[in-house]
Amino acid sequence: MREGAPGAVSTGYQTILVDVEDRLGVVTFNRPDKRNAIDQTMVNELHDVLDGFVMDGDVEACVFTGAGDKAFIGGADIAQLRERDAFDALKTINATLFSRIEALPFPTIAAIRGYCLGGGCELAMCCDLRVAGEGAKFGQPEVALGIIPAAGGTQRLPRLVGLGRAKDLVLTGRTIDAAEAERIGLVNRVVPDDEVLDAGKALARAILSHGALAVRLAKLNLNNSARAGQDSGLLLEQVSQAVLFDSEEKRRRMTEFLEKRAKRG
Ligand code: COA
Repeated sequence: MREGAPGAVSTGYQTILVDVEDRLGVVTFNRPDKRNAIDQTMVNELHDVLDGFVMDGDVEACVFTGAGDKAFIGGADIAQLRERDAFDALKTINATLFSRIEALPFPTIAAIRGYCLGGGCELAMCCDLRVAGEGAKFGQPEVALGIIPAAGGTQRLPRLVGLGRAKDLVLTGRTIDAAEAERIGLVNRVVPDDEVLDAGKALARAILSHGALAVRLAKLNLNNSARAGQDSGLLLEQVSQAVLFDSEEKRRRMTEFLEKRAKRG
């Protein structure tokens, strides 16, 4: 079930909380006793929430965060993973969800407190921006469990931090702190732990203050840059700009800027 009413905190889900206020959705992974591990129920519920966000159109940015102070997400649910076979792996349960999050038409921010491991780190990498608390810990420990980060981890991590650093993290499975994550480009900002959610929301509000179509097309182009060759990437950029040049919002924003300056003399 989903509840799209602005300002509503949905308690109808077992594993997530949803709050929508003034165009900003906040999705909280809510299995704190299991360090917010992603299980099948959470995957299903997240798809349901995202269906609502996209189809209802009243959400223009989304912050993802974890319940409690121990974890953003401690990984995919190991009890469920242990029972899955090769055919289950090929269903790409988490990979499909994470790719969907990456491709959401509006900006997304991961507000990370505590552990952000395995599938949690892979999900965070699918968000457009990552804000971490000083005590946050990041890692891709999958090899220790006899598997690999196969929900995009071997692809998105090297794009964010470079191939050498990605190999260090994936092959050793070691955990790094927030300061190192910021230094290597895995997170965009580090803030005091108890300010993480507010910082994520503030970042989302700053983005929401800009031209909505411009933000969406900027995201589309940036995501496309990871896949397309330069020629087709530049072409999409030109077409996007042409669409924006014809928009009412561009005319209004530029006129406001020029009139303000003219008044100042
Ligand atoms: N899947 C399933 N359950 C998990 C989990 C996961 N990824 N991560 C944590 N949990 C559960 C634990 O089994 C424990 O459950 P229990 O109380 O019923 O025994 C509970 O969450 C608390 O975990 P605990 O290890 O006691 O907490 P901690 O704060 O000391 O350590 C972690 C937290 C995240 C460092 C540790 O739980 C851990 O290493 N988790 C696995 C990380 C991982 O390998 N992720 C990749 C999965 S592919």
